[in-house]
Amino acid sequence: MAGQGAPPLAMALQLRYPGVMTTLTIRRPDDWHLHLRDGAVLRAVLPETSRHFARAIVMPNLVPPVVTLDDAMAYRERILAALPAGADFQPLMTLYLTETTDPAEMARAAASGVVKAVKLYPAGATTNSTSGVRDLDRVMPVLEAMARVGLPLCIHGEVTDPAVDIFDREAVFLDSVLAPLRRRLPDLRVVLEHVTTADGVAFVREAGPGLAATITTHHLILNRNHILAGGIRPHYYCLPVAKRESHRLALRQAATSGDRKFFLGTDSAPHVDALKEQACGCAGCFTATNTLSLLAHVFEEEGALDRLEGFTSRHGPAFYGLAANTATLRLEKRAEPCHWPAKIMTDAGPVTVFNPGFPVHWHVAT
Ligand code: NCD
Ligand code: ZN
Repeated sequence: MAGQGAPPLAMALQLRYPGVMTTLTIRRPDDWHLHLRDGAVLRAVLPETSRHFARAIVMPNLVPPVVTLDDAMAYRERILAALPAGADFQPLMTLYLTETTDPAEMARAAASGVVKAVKLYPAGATTNSTSGVRDLDRVMPVLEAMARVGLPLCIHGEVTDPAVDIFDREAVFLDSVLAPLRRRLPDLRVVLEHVTTADGVAFVREAGPGLAATITTHHLILNRNHILAGGIRPHYYCLPVAKRESHRLALRQAATSGDRKFFLGTDSAPHVDALKEQACGCAGCFTATNTLSLLAHVFEEEGALDRLEGFTSRHGPAFYGLAANTATLRLEKRAEPCHWPAKIMTDAGPVTVFNPGFPVHWHVAT
């Protein structure tokens, strides 16, 4: 009975599936781990985030990296200048920790209100991490200063020892680096970024309130077969690399559990196609465009739509001591699947949007 007498779609779905949620209004989300890059790519990808997100912790792994408060202030200005007119978006800046970072910079950074965290990349762990830390002992005075002023440390939690299998690098990091660091500096607030293993989830759950973890959208969707079985899929390759299925399920459980220690950090990491689709492709999945639809899909599959807001919009600000956003965002489940652009065009080349490989029906209402 199509035509004039037909009920609106949401009502029709409600009639067909009584009790099934077809709309969901949440506080505007924040992204607690985001790569925006600079220049042409920044200009093209920023609107993909600012369309839905109110704030984001912006990663400092530019070339050269964002090391000082002055670097962060200048990068913040470039981000603000690249925002589309009328956008309501606040970049929360981070500093890239190096072995020559001045401990005195931490008090200045915290007092600025501009810098919200410092990022630890073990040297060589991932994209643009050559200036990262080789020896934690050398940055202890900086970490102590951060603990004093309450500046959180965001950690890329992987060891870089070539003798350690890439699928074990996070688990080994927990025992060999994170546990000793937590014992040595229990007052330092730490975010274990883009956690990818059941081991990481358990570690965070068992730790005190000063340790939290971000979880990406793509790690809730991918396991390592998606990258490697039936052909190699460079757009599913990111770091930390997706692990086996049991780990993906542990991440889903953590994200949808309502536990305030877990919150969204998309790690949306744009690389132009030419750098992904080559013999030695860059790591990173670009999920800014469709993250919220994908998360609604995942949370519905887990029977946890009522916990989506905590994960995207409340647990993160609570950890960072910020107020949750008051504006809202509405999701609608429609019969018609979402259509995203396959690629975002930038003046440096196209960036492929993460394709989950299944239809998604949760639309962000505009
Ligand atoms: C990130 C990037 O491209 O900057 N890549 C990724 O695979 N996640 C770096 C990072 O966060 O590890
Ligand atoms: Zn990242």
